[in-house]
Formats: sequence, structure tokens, C-alpha cells
Amino acid sequence: MTLLVFGSTGRLGRSVTKFFQNKTAVIAPTRNEIDLTSKNALQQLIEAEKPDTVINCAAWTDVDGCEKNTELAKELNSVLPQHLSELVQKVDSHLVHISTDFVFDGETDIPYDEEQTPNPTSIYGQTKLQGEKVVGPDATIIRTSWLQAPDDLNMVNWILESFRKEGPVEVPNDRQANPTFITDLVPIIEHFAELRFGGVIHATNEGVTNWCEFAKFIANETGNDPTRVTPAESKNLKRTAPRPAFSALDNAVIRRENVEPIRHHHEAVLEMLNQG
Ligand SMILES: NC(=O)c1ccc[n+]([C@@H]2O[C@H](COP(=O)([O-])OP(=O)(O)OC[C@H]3O[C@@H](n4cnc5c(N)ncnc54)[C@H](OP(=O)(O)O)[C@@H]3O)[C@@H](O)[C@H]2O)c1
Repeated sequence: MTLLVFGSTGRLGRSVTKFFQNKTAVIAPTRNEIDLTSKNALQQLIEAEKPDTVINCAAWTDVDGCEKNTELAKELNSVLPQHLSELVQKVDSHLVHISTDFVFDGETDIPYDEEQTPNPTSIYGQTKLQGEKVVGPDATIIRTSWLQAPDDLNMVNWILESFRKEGPVEVPNDRQANPTFITDLVPIIEHFAELRFGGVIHATNEGVTNWCEFAKFIANETGNDPTRVTPAESKNLKRTAPRPAFSALDNAVIRRENVEPIRHHHEAVLEMLNQG
């Protein structure tokens, strides 16, 4: 089986590439090797390699940047998936496309399941939703949130680092969602890719939280003082794009399909802390 990964240098793409390289032939072109805005370049690659599966982890994820450069947001988040969808069909390949909790407006306090109607409030969310629409019913669309990479500055090591310094540990507490550990997400991607599952799947670690609660949990588990955790003032967050206040996802399809539930994020945090 040949797998083609786009966005292989990103948070998720790096782990996806590494995971599948241990199992199968993986082609993972970087920004310097392929122009993702060129349908011709994509066509040449896909027709030459005829991959069994294409996993699209490429996106423009700079939520505030997308507000300022709508065209680039559309290119990466909407047009690229459309091109991939058209091209995979020609070689009988299967497309797995990654999407986001930002397709929802956050006007609720009940986790969103896959049946609920998206209503994105930012350009990032709107272009990502358009990307979902254009990939069609045969593609696997995996929506996730608050990705925590094992090989990068993630919130666990950022919070630990902040506790090593003096003063308050300032983290936002204005939004709630599910922190999702990429090591728990990748096997879910594999499962649904192998099934060639068509449709939307919500895939996040269990447990809805905000970053203050998350930081306090880490403080309590590591002998740090949880009272040092302070909500960041919104003026310090320098945000331009609106963000959903509540974008927790309910993994209803994972339950329905009898897939092993993704563990609570606390378990993933504890594992990371134990690994040092
Ligand atoms: N991060 C999150 O918390 C989060 C939450 C929910 C959903 N998601 C979704 O998960 C997926 C992966 O996100 P991520 O956090 O791994 O993203 P990321 O770290 O920002 O990586 C994005 C990837 O896309 C590539 N890319 C972006 N713009 C490009 C351009 N103009 N030309 C060529 N390549 C370009 C990047 O290449 P370079 O490395 O060369 O820039 C990188 O490989 C995305 O679909 C995102 O919407 C992410």
C-alpha cells in the first residue's frame, strides 16, 4: 500500500508520516517539493504514484492570519481539498481530510456531534468548512481540536516551562474544548482510512476543559502551586479572528462504529508527565 501525506512538516503531518512509515510506503512531499496551490503539480504526483490513500494534513492554520489573507486561506483550506478530491477519484485512491472544531460557532455548552450544523464565525472556520463540503461523501473527514504534538512545544511542556519561571502562569480561560493528543488521534486516522469510511468523524480526547483548568491539573500532578494559574487578559491574547467559546466535540461516530473510545486527556497528560 502506498500512502501520500500532504502537510507532513506540520504538527499532525509529522506524526502521521512517522507512524505510517513504520508500516507502509509513504510519500510525504514538503513545501519545497510540491506547490500545493498548483493542480497540475498535484495531478502529476498523484497520477505518477497512484497512492492507495491520500491524507491531507496541510492547511493554513493561522486563524488570525486567515482573516487578513482570505485568498491564501481559500487556496489551502478549500481549493486544495477540492483538487485532491477530484484527483484521487481518477486513480481510485481514498482521501482522508483533516478538519476542525472551528466549523462550529460555539453558541452552546453541549459537545457537538457530527449531525449538528456547522456555523463558522472566522475565515479559517469558513474555509475549512468549505473544504469539507468539496471533498464529497466518499472522503473520510476527521474533525479534531487543540492538537498536542509529541515532538513540539505543546501545552503540557509550555505550562511546565512556565512553572519553572517566576510569577503567574498566564493561560486563556475564555474557551472550552477537548485537548487532543496526536498520538491518540493517529490510530483513529488509520482505522477509518483502512475502512475507506465516507463521512465526518469527530475525534478528540475525552474531557472538556479550558486551559486554566488544564494548567491546574498539571500543577496538582507535578507539585506546583495551582494558585499561580491566572486567566490571561484578552488584550494580551492579540486575537483578531472570532473563536468559538465552546467547541467540544462528541465522538458519536466513533461510539456508533464500535471503535475503542479515545482516552481522557488526563490520561494522556499523565503519560506525558511520566515520560519526563
Ligand atoms: N492545530 C490544531 O490545534 C488543530 C485543531 C483542529 C484541527 N486542526 C486541523 O488539523 C490539520 C493539521 O493541523 P496542524 O496543526 O498539524 O497544522 P500545521 O502545524 O500548521 O501544519 C500545516 C501544514 O501545512 C503546510 N502548509 C501550510 N501552508 C502551506 C503552503 N502555502 N504551501 C505548502 N504547504 C503549506 C505546512 O507546511 P510548512 O511546515 O512548510 O509551513 C505544514 O506542513 C489541519 O487540517 C487543521 O485545520 C488543527
